[in-house]
Amino acid sequence: MPPTNTRTLRYGPAAIAEAARLIADGQCVAVPTETVYGLAADASDSAAVARIYAAKGRPSFNPLIVHVPDLAAAERIAVVDDRARDLAARWWPGPLTLVLPVQTGAVASLVTAGLDTVAVRVPAHRAMQALLRTTGKPLAAPSANASNRISPTRAAHVLLTLDGRIPLVIDDGPTTAGVESTIIDGQTGKVLRPGPIDPISREGGGPGPEATTLVAPGARLREGTVVAPGQLASHYAPTKRLRLNATERRNGEWLIGFGAVTGDDTLSASGDLVEAAAHLFDALHRADASGSTAIAIAPVPDDGIGVAINDRLGRAAHR
Ligand code: TXA
Ligand code: MG
Repeated sequence: MPPTNTRTLRYGPAAIAEAARLIADGQCVAVPTETVYGLAADASDSAAVARIYAAKGRPSFNPLIVHVPDLAAAERIAVVDDRARDLAARWWPGPLTLVLPVQTGAVASLVTAGLDTVAVRVPAHRAMQALLRTTGKPLAAPSANASNRISPTRAAHVLLTLDGRIPLVIDDGPTTAGVESTIIDGQTGKVLRPGPIDPISREGGGPGPEATTLVAPGARLREGTVVAPGQLASHYAPTKRLRLNATERRNGEWLIGFGAVTGDDTLSASGDLVEAAAHLFDALHRADASGSTAIAIAPVPDDGIGVAINDRLGRAAHR
């Protein structure tokens, strides 16, 4: 790929207008969502989608998530049945991705990697929402990092692996959720990738129908993590060796603590799992950039969003 001059623009009308112009021109741009920064391109333009794969160096069998501004736009690219509609009503806009039957011809086949389903998400972030509404296009967007590297939760993280490979990064500060969206198979209710939304806990509300009929607790969440195509075993990887469940530092290691385990850094000193998720990729980036030769990380409880954190850590440690 020929090198490009990558610009960073602060979120605002000028940044969105410039990003929309690039998208209309078939380019891809990095834009924040509430989970991680995404690398967005027009999902209906196969050449634009190919540029995402090229910039990331991503294997082309790995299908991409398509972002749309609302449920009506989702229905133009996917078949939304009653079960999926209930989930959408509850969690959209937000960090939930639904895998649904694709409407034939609605997105480039490169987006779905030839599957007859498409992963759809309505993000809550103001920058991605503004870009979706300004372009009027469904936007395919994987995380804005080179394939198999740590996901970006800040504009500076994007530049670490994509500087010179994309034309624009929109900077709107650190993301809030910190790990990628929960992916649910809209037809079976199975969790394909754990994430910020735990459909079991139904935060902020009483138990609803899907709490009992869609997803069984804990065990199913884990089991489901292996069934999404493209969930490569080694993923989100720092360049250094990563040791999990560490309670103390060994020779030359950079220790990332949690709760009572203290080290060079911490995911959350108070042991708060939501805070830990928001800090996870930031902490891995800092560890990777430090002078140490290896990384160790404290144990993180495997409940709630901790399941998503441990899913990402397991992939990051796998070489
Ligand atoms: O939070 C997020 O979801 C971020 C932000 C940018 O929105 N995006 C993201 O996209 O994580 P990506 O492309 O890195 O993750 C896509 C995941 C892959 O694991 C892929 O296997 C799965 O979604 N996926 C995509 N299409 C699918 C399909 N039709 N069936 C099953 N899994 C699918
Ligand atoms: Mg990714």
